[in-house]
Amino acid sequence: MSTIKTTMRGPSNLHDFAALAQSVMDPQVWDTYAQGSEDERTLRANERAWGDVWLRPRTLVDVTRCDTSTTALGAPLAFPAMIAPMSLQALVHAEAERATTRAASDAGVMMIASTLSSRSLEEIAAAATGCAQPAPLWFQLYLYPDAAFNEELLHRVERAGYRALMLTVDAPYIGNRERDRRNQFTPPPAVSFGNFAAAPQVNWLTRGQRLPLTWDVIAWLRARTALPIVLKGILAAEDAQRAVEAGVDGIAVSNHGGRQLDGALPTRYALPEVVAAVDGRCEVYVDGGIRRGVDILRALALGARAVLIGRPVIWGLAADGEDGVRAVLRILRDELTLALRLAGHTTVATVDDRLIARIPPIGDRVDDESAVRRTRAASEDAPCDE
Ligand SMILES: Cc1cc2nc3c(=O)[nH]c(=O)nc-3n(C[C@H](O)[C@H](O)[C@H](O)COP(=O)(O)O)c2cc1C
Repeated sequence: MSTIKTTMRGPSNLHDFAALAQSVMDPQVWDTYAQGSEDERTLRANERAWGDVWLRPRTLVDVTRCDTSTTALGAPLAFPAMIAPMSLQALVHAEAERATTRAASDAGVMMIASTLSSRSLEEIAAAATGCAQPAPLWFQLYLYPDAAFNEELLHRVERAGYRALMLTVDAPYIGNRERDRRNQFTPPPAVSFGNFAAAPQVNWLTRGQRLPLTWDVIAWLRARTALPIVLKGILAAEDAQRAVEAGVDGIAVSNHGGRQLDGALPTRYALPEVVAAVDGRCEVYVDGGIRRGVDILRALALGARAVLIGRPVIWGLAADGEDGVRAVLRILRDELTLALRLAGHTTVATVDDRLIARIPPIGDRVDDESAVRRTRAASEDAPCDE
């Protein structure tokens, strides 16, 4: 039974969930999730940049019926959201990725399991199949300097029923995450990588060493699996073009939530050039700083098929386990439904760039943090009508 209620006093949006999670999390664990790399410019800019997409709502449309459903590579989504792959969720809750997967199933969204998850990919698949309506599953792939391990991993992913591989391409080395170093953070011994249970002590794993990847990896994967391939971590049109030529099925525009190259552009600004380069030849998703349903609407208007939600899922998990993740997803879906209606749309399929105002960025002038805070303070005193 949930202990958290999304009422006037409980978390009513994802910002509230962040505050609640921080109040219950070990500060070092909070930092390891919250942090970006170096000066955290990309981390901060990701979230703020969505505020620079100004919308042109249409009016006098009957929006009583509103359908948020869509698909990702054919898999049904109750609304255009997927749970981003995030490592070691046992750091915040004992049920870890199993809880996240059950909440995703309940909400009708995709669960993307990380290679570095704390529960094995088989346990995550079992958590889904135990649900009345199992979440579709994708597997986020890292490859290692051990061909036998990689091939066996691919076989396991196929056997467990995952529908696609999401190959992360923006992390040949781990970004410079200074909060972890300052905290001298290492996961407690009880928290380990579920997919490496048979080989927890191998050198390449303990040194964080990965297989150096080049474009040849697509052909290598194609020769070993029939699963669709999605590249995660593309920010440049040239790479998007090359990915399409290599025959990928999807691209996730991502800067790893600001955890890799600090200074990499916010995903809101990378999305249009990737969408233009892809020109409809594969699906495009985006993540980084999506904190409101209207941010999902903005991403769709810029050409994304769906978004990935990262840290807010962890906040829900930390605050209230499976119920917390479920509440986070419900808030996002409710906000998206309302935003669609207020924008004059009754389905996500009709959303396109006509919804976007063609004006130069004005966010830094009118949407700075202090303005947001003033608005929040004012709205607390406002009458409840309007
Ligand atoms: C704690 C943490 C762990 C992550 N682990 C992975 C991972 O194992 N593989 C991966 O491709 N991305 C990983 N990511 C990146 C997310 O998939 C996603 O790109 C990012 O969190 C999205 O930004 P958001 O947190 O602002 O929503 C991780 C992110 C966080 C915060």
